[in-house]
Amino acid sequence: MRTDRTFTMLKPDSVEKGHIGAILEKITASGFRIVALKLNQMTKADAEEFYAVHNERPFFGELVEYMTRGPIVSAVLEKSNAVEDFRALIGATNPADAAEGTIRKLYAASIGENAVHGSDSDENAAIEAAFHFSGREMF
Ligand code: RTP
Ligand code: MG
Repeated sequence: MRTDRTFTMLKPDSVEKGHIGAILEKITASGFRIVALKLNQMTKADAEEFYAVHNERPFFGELVEYMTRGPIVSAVLEKSNAVEDFRALIGATNPADAAEGTIRKLYAASIGENAVHGSDSDENAAIEAAFHFSGREMF
C-alpha cells in the first residue's frame, strides 16, 4: 500500500438517504482518485473487527448495529497527503463541530450517524483497505 492512499466508507445512513452520488462527487472534485469502489454490507463480525479499537467504549454496541443495518460504499482513494486531507474533507466526528462545507457538516445527522468514515493513519488505511478489498480490486 502506498502512503498516498486512504480508505473510506459511506456509512448506511448515506446510502439510505441517497447521498452516494453527491458524496462521491465531492470526493473526486476535491482531488481524490477512486482506486477501489464497491457497495457491500458488513456482518456483525466484520464491524466488530473493523472497529475493534472501540470495543470498550459505551457506544460500541450502537456503532456495530448502525454499521451493519444496511449496505455501505467502501472505497480506496489516492491523493498526495491522502489521510490528512481526507480527514479535513470529512470534518469532525460530531457534525455539530464540523467545519462548513465538510461532508459531515453537509450530510451527517449526529455523532453516532456521521455519514462517512476516514482512516486515521497511513498504517490503518492499508489495514482497512486490505480488510475490504483484494489486491485485484484495487487499481
Ligand atoms: P471514523 O473512524 O468512522 O472515521 O470516525 P472518527 O475517526 O471521526 O471517530 P472515532 O472516534 O473513530 O469513532 C468511530 C465512530 O463511532 C461512532 N461514535 N459514536 N455516540 C458517540 O459518542 C460516538 N462516538 C463515536 C461514530 O460513528 C464514529 O464515526
Ligand atoms: Mg476513527
